Order: sequence, then structure tokens, then C-alpha cells
Amino acid sequence: MMFPLVLLFAAAALQKFQNDVEKMYNKNVFNLETMREKLRTLNNRVQTCRTISQNFRSSCSRRMMTNISAPVVTKLNPFSTSYISGAWGHDRGPDDEETYWIQPLANGNRLGNIVRFYHSFEDFMAARNHKDETLVNSYTDANAIQGPGTVVHKGIVYYQCYNLPELCAFDLKTRKVRRLALPGAGFNNKFPYCYYSCLDWTDINLAADDKGLWVTYATEANHGNTVVSLVDIESFNVTHTWKTRLFKRSVTNTFLVCGVLYATRYINTYKEEVFYAFDTLTGMEDNTLSIPMEKVAAGVAHLHYNPTDMRLYMYNGGYMLAYQAYF
Ligand SMILES: *[C@@H]1O[C@H](CO)[C@@H](O)[C@H](O)[C@H]1NC(C)=O
Ligand SMILES: *[C@@H]1O[C@H](CO)[C@@H](O)[C@H](O)[C@H]1NC(C)=O
Repeated sequence: MMFPLVLLFAAAALQKFQNDVEKMYNKNVFNLETMREKLRTLNNRVQTCRTISQNFRSSCSRRMMTNISAPVVTKLNPFSTSYISGAWGHDRGPDDEETYWIQPLANGNRLGNIVRFYHSFEDFMAARNHKDETLVNSYTDANAIQGPGTVVHKGIVYYQCYNLPELCAFDLKTRKVRRLALPGAGFNNKFPYCYYSCLDWTDINLAADDKGLWVTYATEANHGNTVVSLVDIESFNVTHTWKTRLFKRSVTNTFLVCGVLYATRYINTYKEEVFYAFDTLTGMEDNTLSIPMEKVAAGVAHLHYNPTDMRLYMYNGGYMLAYQAYF
């Protein structure tokens, strides 16, 4: 995006912001939180324009990630501040239509049955024109969503199925569900992510890229250490499984970029650090990384990388954050 366009965009956004503030005063609904949210929205838009073009190249030409930007999106989820767990991201459906999606968890931050979609970044930021897809009718349906490990990839919602160590794939077009068992995978808070306290229902975590679907979990056979399986999306079957020496309960979250598993650890409420990498191509492990990530709350419910925009998507204590990855 050209620089003058950024300025124009910012000026227009600023004018709109001023109008909105005036409206809020008039309607007597002005409060600090709304104000902060508006400021964030404005800042996010400008940041997005600044960062989107400069690093637009194939993300896997250099395999290792070297740095992560400050958040380029910071937004409170549109449901309620009590939705502290869930997942969010960006997808291009089977017909290449763009969506931003949010999957909130209810019932003790454990279960979900809807995914909210927006068809543009503007709608997502303004929380307008959403479409809620109800996958099943109840939280305890066999095909309901358990835990914040969900990801939407090419119009299919992938998630842990209710109360079992199994994956569900819900096709938004056909509304059909496929299931895949993960033998030995810890579930129901056996091997969640922990920092100084554990984040419940984070046993099974998903990410998708052009290689397929990556699923991260831990098994007793691997002594509670993290295991990564690559799932072929067509046959919906595990094609390969890697065992790491990363104790799953000792990390805040994990994500995969270009076939490399990264893990983060808790520094404080506002800072996370990527400290570990495991390369599925070579089997090499490295626990000497130190890539900082800013955040807004302690708990990281979900973190995944999207190769189409080279961004990391984090669901962080009710906030939705995105970061640009650098290689
Ligand atoms: C990494 O990114 C952070 C956040 O944008 C920045 O402050 C820092 O200078 C970067 N570090 C390097 C080595 O580029
Ligand atoms: C899935 O993988 C398992 C184990 O590798 C194999 O036994 C099974 O036949 C595969 N199923 C399909 C549908 O490809």
C-alpha cells in the first residue's frame, strides 16, 4: 500500500472516530473501554496498512522464523469479556472467499458449537455483518467443539470432538463431519498447556498449512512430552507422527511454521517468549531461542500461524491478537 493512501485512510478513520465519540456522548454510552477499543481499532488499521506489503514473499524460503512484530491487530472478542478461551483466524474458503472467524468457548471455557464469520477485515474490526454457523445443536453433541485448539482451513472447521481424543472436520458447505482418532493422545486436562497455572482443555491443538493439518498433543508413551502429527486433509488420516522432548505442561502454547514446531513460555502477563523449536524435516531441537511476543493478558488459549498472510493468530484472555512473522 502506498504511503499517501495510508494517510488518507488514517485521516478518514480519525474523522469517523471523532464522529463516533460525539455519537457516544450524545447517546450517553461513552465509557473508557469503548474508547480504548476505538483507539485500538484505529491504530490496528493504520498498522495493517503499514505492515502488509513489505514482507510479502514465500514464508518458507527461509525456514526459521527470526522475529515477530508487535501486535498488528488487538481486538476484544465481540461476545463478552467472559469468553476468555477460544480461537480466531483468517481463511480463504474453497471459492477463495475471504473470512475472518472466531470460535468462542462457553461451559467453563470448554465447549463450543458456533463459529462466527466476517467477510472482510473491515467488518471484523467493526464487529458488523457477521454470520454465525451453528455446527451442532448442543454443547454435548458428539460433534461439538471441545477446547480452544480449533482452526478453519479452506472452508473446513477442524477441532477436537467433544469429550474424546478425536479430531472432527466440519465441512461448512456440505455440513458433513469426518472424524479421526488420535491413539494415546492425552485429553480432558491430562496434558494441557500450563504456565504457572494450567489452561484447561488445551490438550489438543490444531494448525493448518499447505502440507496438511498439524495436530499437537502429548502422550503417556512419550512421557507427557509433545507429539506432532501431520494429517492428510484429503484422506483425513495421520501420515506421520514426530515425538519431541518438549514437556507439554511446561509451555504456554505451540504453533507450526513451515514444518517447524515452536513453543512459547510465560514471561509475565504482557510478554511471552518463543524459546523452543523442533524441525520436523531434520528432527533437530533448539531450546535457546528468545523471540519476544507482546500480549494483553496472561492466558494464551490458542496460537497458530497462517501461511497465506504470514501472521500468527492468538486468542489471549478474550482478546484477539495477530502478529507478523519475520524470517
Ligand atoms: C523484533 O521485533 C520487535 C517487535 O517489533 C522489535 O522491537 C525488535 O527490535 C525486533 N528485533 C530484531 C532483532 O529485529
Ligand atoms: C489410515 O492410516 C492407518 C495407519 O497408517 C491405516 O491403517 C489406514 O488404512 C489408513 N486409512 C485410510 C482411510 O487411508
